[in-house]
Amino acid sequence: MIPVITIDGPGGTGKGSLSLRLKRTLGWFMLDSGALYRALAFSVSERDVSSQDEKGLLEVARSINVEFLDDGLQSSVLLNGQDISNLIRTEDIGTLASKLAASASIRAVLLQKQRDFLKSPGLVADGRDMGTTVFPDAALKIFLTASIEERSLRRLKQLKEKGITARLARLSQEIAERDNRDSKREESPMRPAKDAEILDTTGLGLDEVVSLAEKLIETRFGKLQH
Ligand code: DC
Repeated sequence: MIPVITIDGPGGTGKGSLSLRLKRTLGWFMLDSGALYRALAFSVSERDVSSQDEKGLLEVARSINVEFLDDGLQSSVLLNGQDISNLIRTEDIGTLASKLAASASIRAVLLQKQRDFLKSPGLVADGRDMGTTVFPDAALKIFLTASIEERSLRRLKQLKEKGITARLARLSQEIAERDNRDSKREESPMRPAKDAEILDTTGLGLDEVVSLAEKLIETRFGKLQH
C-alpha cells in the first residue's frame, strides 16, 4: 500500500508550509486539496457560471485539471497548464471555494481527482477532510489548530508577501466565517479524524512544527534521512 500522510485543519494553521517541508524531506508527492477547490472557484468566476447553475458548476468541476509543481525551491499550482499560484490566494476566491465545497455533488467529482494524486513512493495531502474522507486509511493523520488571532496575522503576512493588501479585522471575520461554514456543513465537514494527532501551532514557528511532525513520522516510518 502506498503511504499517505494527511494534514488537516482550518485556514492559517500552516498546513501548506508543513506539507511542503515534509514532502521535500520524504521525496513524496503532494496534494494541496484547498488549491483544488480554489482552482474550481477561480474557473467558475472566470467562466462567469452562476452559483445556482448546478449543472454548469459540475461541468467546470469535471473539466479542471490541476497539477502541483515543485523544484525543491519553489512550488506552483497549474490549472489546465496555466500558473494560477497567486491568482487563487485571494480571500474572495477562498470564500467562493468554501461555498462551492459545501455541495455534495461537487465534492463527489473532486473526490476521485484527489485520490488520483496517490502515487509511489507516497503522498502528503493537506486540506479539511483528508484524514476523514479522502484517505481514511492514511498511515499518519495530523490535525493542526491555532488561535484565530495568530491565524489572521499569518494570513495577513502571507498575502502581503504576495503583494495582496488586506485588513486584519476583515481577514479575521472572513476566516471565522469560513471555519464556521467548513465545519458545520453536512457533507464531509472539517473535523479531526478519530485517530488524528492534534498539533496546536499557536506560538510555534514553522521549524518547530516541522520537528514535531517529523517525530510523529519517525514513530510510524522509522528514522528520516535529511
Ligand atoms: O485550505 P484553503 O484555504 O486553500 O481551502 C479553501 C476552501 O476549500 C476551504 O475554505 C474549504 C474548501 N476545502 C474543502 O472543503 N475541503 C478540502 N479538503 C480542502 C479545502
